[in-house]
Amino acid sequence: MNQLNVGLLGAGRMGSFHGESIAKRIPEANLYAIADPFLGAAEKLANKLGTNIKTYTEPLEMMQDSAIDAVIIASPARTHASNVIAAAKNGKAVFCEKPMAITIEEADNVLQVVQEMKVPLQVGFNRRFSKGFESAHNEIVSGKIGTPQLLRSLTRDPALGNPNKPEWTIFLETLIHDFDTLLYLNPNAKPIEVFVMADALVRPDYKDKGLLDTAVVNIRFDNGSIGIAEANFQAVYGYDVRGEVFGSEGMLQMGSIRESNMTRFTKEGVSYDTCRYDQDLLFDAYVAELKSFVDAVNTNKQTTVTGEDARSALLIARASIESYKLNQPVKIENGVLI
Ligand SMILES: NC(=O)c1ccc[n+]([C@@H]2O[C@H](COP(=O)([O-])OP(=O)(O)OC[C@H]3O[C@@H](n4cnc5c(N)ncnc54)[C@H](O)[C@@H]3O)[C@@H](O)[C@H]2O)c1
Repeated sequence: MNQLNVGLLGAGRMGSFHGESIAKRIPEANLYAIADPFLGAAEKLANKLGTNIKTYTEPLEMMQDSAIDAVIIASPARTHASNVIAAAKNGKAVFCEKPMAITIEEADNVLQVVQEMKVPLQVGFNRRFSKGFESAHNEIVSGKIGTPQLLRSLTRDPALGNPNKPEWTIFLETLIHDFDTLLYLNPNAKPIEVFVMADALVRPDYKDKGLLDTAVVNIRFDNGSIGIAEANFQAVYGYDVRGEVFGSEGMLQMGSIRESNMTRFTKEGVSYDTCRYDQDLLFDAYVAELKSFVDAVNTNKQTTVTGEDARSALLIARASIESYKLNQPVKIENGVLI
């Protein structure tokens, strides 16, 4: 079998999962190398996942390795744009974790280089590969629930952890999933207005250090529909990712917090266990997105989630930041904030 040789950049939480998928869950790909600037991190993961995996501490050196066909970028968000550009300039196909970039200018630079180098690019919006969300998209496209009027996407992480987060994390790294989901579930619609309310309700003591841990983003689209994206960093009952689309002919709901389909009936009542970890709740989607990327590169097909899709979600994130700062709605026209 012709295997795609993959170089993994970033051996942290998400990189470890993607590395394991390439090494063990996707036979059409081979985990050829791992790079991580943190001394020993790449070696540790390489030893866990195989025997002949090359390691680098200098990401650029790995990008220049001519045996590598594709690079998976799972480094911290603020390094993504420069890493995608470096990988593309070395002719590699790129899978980049979300967000693809932090600013619109960065995103446009990425898109330009990727286009010039004619390399495939896929961005890690894994919810598109989660069965319920994918089915909902297909039903909406086929007109099953008529015209979308109200859309909702939400993310509630189980625990805030370290409250010292990079600025605007809730919009750029968490709600970016929901912005992409709303766009996915509202095909061809463009956002025209965004209004945000956000706060630090989990850790109010960190608000003056810039933490926002709770947010609601209202989005008006050019097809008349209205979307709501909401997030909170501490849902005591588990990891919660759900969506809903209400249309002129019906409604679709997607997402479940259940850990399995077992339901417990006792004298206390009825209950079930919930997922406490994103990689448990969305395990299949994380594997499916990488499989789709590998298939697209191996067979010369268009990747499923493009750089343009990532720019569209980022634009709503940037509008959200602007709306939060101004405490008023902001408008979007022709792909730019006005
Ligand atoms: N799609 C999802 O649902 C999802 C979930 C979690 C994380 N992520 C994304 O994955 C990325 C990584 O998150 P994580 O939770 O694994 O973080 P992490 O901190 O666990 O891992 C990041 C790794 O990158 C390494 N690193 C630091 N600077 C680097 C650089 N300049 N170049 C290459 N590597 C560098 C670090 O040493 C670390 O090993 C983030 O962009 C995050 O948004 C996506």
